[in-house]
Amino acid sequence: MAGLFIAFEGGEGAGKTTQSLLLAERLAERQTPHLLVREPGGTELGEYLREYLKSERPLSPEAELLLFEAARTELVTSQILPALAAGQVVIADRFFGSTIAYQGYGRGLDLQVIESLNRFAAGPAAPDLTILLDLSPEAGIRRAMSFQTSFSPDASGGLAPMQRNAEGTRFEDLDLEFHNKAREGFRAQAEAHHDKWVVIDALGPIESVQEEVWKLTRERLYPDEAEPAATAESPTPVNPGPQGELWPQAT
Ligand code: TMP
Repeated sequence: MAGLFIAFEGGEGAGKTTQSLLLAERLAERQTPHLLVREPGGTELGEYLREYLKSERPLSPEAELLLFEAARTELVTSQILPALAAGQVVIADRFFGSTIAYQGYGRGLDLQVIESLNRFAAGPAAPDLTILLDLSPEAGIRRAMSFQTSFSPDASGGLAPMQRNAEGTRFEDLDLEFHNKAREGFRAQAEAHHDKWVVIDALGPIESVQEEVWKLTRERLYPDEAEPAATAESPTPVNPGPQGELWPQAT
């Protein structure tokens, strides 16, 4: 059985990490096998590259692009493809849409080169559904810099929320012009691939965004399931989680 591949995309502070974690939690409640990954990261090489890519250490745009692609190849071959082959739901906190938006629209690198590198790095792995959490860069950066939450591999091989201040801020530090271009890049992709991309306004409360995400997931995973009556399904409360207040405030 082929699995389902869902990617979250969006600018800084849009809520991708929170929504990825909440979706994984919801699938776990239903005992639906799933894998939660983030880009860059999720493998030994990916986490190593993430540290450099997020730091403020010197990096040309071209090298930056290639490092994101290297991290991606590793994640796809060692985690994503095996999980999909096993019929799991793969949730990715960013995938190749981020490379088009950040390195293409943001840095100004050639879009065709990026697209062909994306294909090379991801091989047959392409999201069935990409959820774009859309937010103005002003609101997003403010949120990202105040809440700063991410997740990292824990001792059991799972993912645990973590304080993100520990990571560098290469991209958060870029000016609004960069982030506006990246947002334009995300929206252009959503428009060009409207059969596979859905845009959600990320300014709304976590719980209502989560409900929209769950509705999209449920339609694809359990298409025969009757729509619950409007009052029957209240939003899943946001769980404080093992890291206390950090959990619901992820970016
Ligand atoms: P985040 O996981 O905390 O969002 O950090 C990842 C950063 O890397 C974020 O600023 C977006 C950036 N990024 C790219 O520039 N290109 C990419 O292809 C990916 C996956 C991420």
